[in-house]
Amino acid sequence: MSATTGKNILIGVTGGIAAYKVVEVASRLKKSGANVRVVMTKNATEFISPKTFREITGNPVAVKMFAEKEHVAHITLADFADLVLIAPATANFLAKAAHGIADDLLSTTILATTAPKIFCPSMNTNMLENPATQENLNILKSRGIKIIDSASGLLACGVTGKGRLPEPVEICKFVENFFAEQNSRQPEKPVEVSAGFGEVLTIEEKLPLAGKKIIVTAGGTMEPIDPVRYICNRSTGKMGFEIAKAAKNHGAEVLLISGNSTQTPPENLHFQKVESAEEMRRAVLAEYEVCDAVIMSAAVSDYRVKNVAAQKIKKSDETLTLELVKNPDILKELGKLKEKQILIGFAAETENLLEYAERKLREKNLDMIVANDVAAEGAGFAVNTNIASFIHRDGKREDLPKMSKSELAEQIVRRLEEKFF
Ligand code: C5P
Repeated sequence: MSATTGKNILIGVTGGIAAYKVVEVASRLKKSGANVRVVMTKNATEFISPKTFREITGNPVAVKMFAEKEHVAHITLADFADLVLIAPATANFLAKAAHGIADDLLSTTILATTAPKIFCPSMNTNMLENPATQENLNILKSRGIKIIDSASGLLACGVTGKGRLPEPVEICKFVENFFAEQNSRQPEKPVEVSAGFGEVLTIEEKLPLAGKKIIVTAGGTMEPIDPVRYICNRSTGKMGFEIAKAAKNHGAEVLLISGNSTQTPPENLHFQKVESAEEMRRAVLAEYEVCDAVIMSAAVSDYRVKNVAAQKIKKSDETLTLELVKNPDILKELGKLKEKQILIGFAAETENLLEYAERKLREKNLDMIVANDVAAEGAGFAVNTNIASFIHRDGKREDLPKMSKSELAEQIVRRLEEKFF
């Protein structure tokens, strides 16, 4: 595992020719397990398309301060970041950052975030050596901003000198070292958690969910028709697997119970594969008493076949009628049995989303429901992004922008944490 795994890195790309090199930086950081988001200045988009970064990171790329869909985007981005990396950082950007000028989305976000910052200046040698730029760099350094020194070599302007953006691998190494050092400053003493979910796992004690046992359900249930056929749905399990990973990264002991899914089970958590809703119900109930929270993201089939055929049904008549009976509503049952447990459910709808979600929150006795319109573009099954609203027990609602499922998982787990403390 890399020191950047699970970290939220905000990359700011400003308008220098070296912007193209930052695609590789974003790609490497993403591959190392970081959640990467990119903000570009308008000038940066002259060098490289936001689409390239969007494809690489799996997240929308922000450019405009007042984009219609993003409500106070600079605050959302500022809060997201564990680290802000500016590459390339132009002379103009350095000047603005040094003097607190906030006239576009990136410079405003920089002012709004308390996250640590790493800047990678890149420009023509004379611009870099200009006393104005040097003074600005000194101001930034004196405020604790880390500066990765520019490299020397042939510059885009044809001059040979200092001002090149260091190679992506060097930048990523710097970021990795930064997080490694940060992690080592907060020693995370491994503790063994008591049994309850089966074998004993090693958990990091200092993390916010240390000592908490959390059940996450994922995927679609498979309701048998006969020994070879079943009824299922379009769920891939991605959302639930991301939630399980996020909860584990926050220190929880996680039991992931999954129906049909396309995902690989993450490491260092308890994993149980189930098929039908009834099997999932039994698996959840078996551990419910010892757990502290359940996040039910599984797409549980509402109905099952009444009489499952013992042998493969042969093709005969023109039509075949299957009688379906209602499945148990697992979450509703958990809501009734609830003692200390925090319950989070999902409402995947194609119409009247918020109304249905609020009703489910009440009927199932939940602490929070994640409502998502599965028919919306960029949301729902088999895509990497989701658009959701959180509705809390006290009626508070939060509408989240479109984001990757891993980022949404992170947000869900953070809300869960708030409910514990
Ligand atoms: O009522 P609806 O099926 O839309 O509720 C969705 C929520 O309830 C999800 O969190 C889902 O995992 C859960 N659920 C359940 N048992 C069912 C159906 C849904 O636990 N039979």
